[in-house]
Amino acid sequence: MRVTISRFNPERDLEPHFETYDVSVSEGARVLNVLDAVHDTLDASLGYRHCCRGGQCGSCAVRVNGEPALACMHEAKDGDVIEPLNLPRIRDLIVDIAPAIAQMAWLNTGSCLECSHVTADDIEEIKPLRECIECFSCISSCPAVGASSYAGPTAIRQERRLNLDPRDKAERVEEAVSKGLFSCTTCHKCVEVCPKGIETPRKAVEKLRALAVARGLSLPAHKALAALIESTGRSVERKEPTFLERVADVIEPEGEVRATVGFFVGCMFNGRVVQPALDAMEVLKRNGIRVIIPKSQVCCGSPLIRTGFTGFIPELQERNIKAFVDAGVDTVLTMCAGCGSTLKNDYNTPFRVADITEYLAELGFEEPAKVKGSYTYHDPCHLLRGQHISEQPRVLLKSVAEEFVDMAPRCCGAGGGVKSGQPEEAANIGAVRAEMVIETGADYIVTVCPFCEFHLHQVTGLPVKNIASLMLEGYLKKDF
Ligand code: SF4
Ligand code: SF4
Ligand code: FES
Repeated sequence: MRVTISRFNPERDLEPHFETYDVSVSEGARVLNVLDAVHDTLDASLGYRHCCRGGQCGSCAVRVNGEPALACMHEAKDGDVIEPLNLPRIRDLIVDIAPAIAQMAWLNTGSCLECSHVTADDIEEIKPLRECIECFSCISSCPAVGASSYAGPTAIRQERRLNLDPRDKAERVEEAVSKGLFSCTTCHKCVEVCPKGIETPRKAVEKLRALAVARGLSLPAHKALAALIESTGRSVERKEPTFLERVADVIEPEGEVRATVGFFVGCMFNGRVVQPALDAMEVLKRNGIRVIIPKSQVCCGSPLIRTGFTGFIPELQERNIKAFVDAGVDTVLTMCAGCGSTLKNDYNTPFRVADITEYLAELGFEEPAKVKGSYTYHDPCHLLRGQHISEQPRVLLKSVAEEFVDMAPRCCGAGGGVKSGQPEEAANIGAVRAEMVIETGADYIVTVCPFCEFHLHQVTGLPVKNIASLMLEGYLKKDF
């Protein structure tokens, strides 16, 4: 097979460069076998790390075609491009992991006289956080690392792991805050790349944030937002008549009724950017979908869960579930990635929750006319990783865009309370995303999240369209 490897020898090279190698390896060879073959038969100077060769030590992590992977576990394919992790480079595929190790906390039992004992229940709770093999794939792909002084996901994972250990006597919550606990956008990229599937955002970041809030260590903007939700049931101040005030309880489609759904509007589309939600109703109507809109629905609670203000969550959950159960619907559509992810992952709903793009792609939709211009699609993290939806919005977009330019996913920096709590960090993360957008040369960005919409427009200066609004544009063009 032919592979391309990024090479860099600081004693010889001014810049890293790629070299291509043809090697002979057996069927099912791992990337590590390919590196061995290059080293043993073609170039003994190739530098790379390995130890256990069985997915246990984490030392062989590299990037394969741009994404972190354990070289000893990842099957090699003809044409693979192998690069080091995005960490300071020492040589070839060897990176400097010393700074990351220095950020890791270790068990501090204090005096032996004060020692407590670990129970079976403690172990059960610690287990999902204990499996880390220190491959540092998560740190290398975390958008917040480098955009701030954030110590990174595995450092925070370790703080929570020790925080759960009754023997540990250190102040782990305070320590986590000082390591940048509030810099995480909850994008879940670290979970996607972790060979052990450790759920750091949910099991460490959000838990430690809730403890930080209980100790009065929350960020002022998050505190204000929590107060607003508790007093109004909404996370944004109303400026004009809201979506819920402007629409009927039931929106009947034109012609044959193909399906009936409930619609969860979310705070941003209800109170701040109402038009895309109104456009979405037209798109659903056009596609034979009857929409029931319970007016008693409230904020899904996402801003509270992500920032640690969890006390009010049960009430919000109860009010929303009751609103849709009373409406008698078995499917509830969302059009905000954050609301959809929250209803799917943080609620236990007796009805199905589906993103509008997921639902339309599944049910089938009328083809709109093509709309002028070139469009790229930004995957909202809470749709891509929170709901595993990436193809469906692209199907819709390709049906309406005159030209579609695809773009690899990357967090824009708006989520997890980072934009509201630490706007300069959100802007730094957004600047990296802006470069990727500009590189596509597209005239417009299309997305399915109002927070991404706002932030992307701010960091790129480009017009951002909601997918529903663009679909409606296509339908209107078809009609006239
Ligand atoms: S969720 Fe995203 S921002 Fe948070 S630690 Fe993981 S990769 Fe970093
Ligand atoms: S949390 Fe997962 S990705 Fe991060 S260092 Fe540990 S094993 Fe690797
Ligand atoms: S060599 Fe140990 S995990 Fe790959």
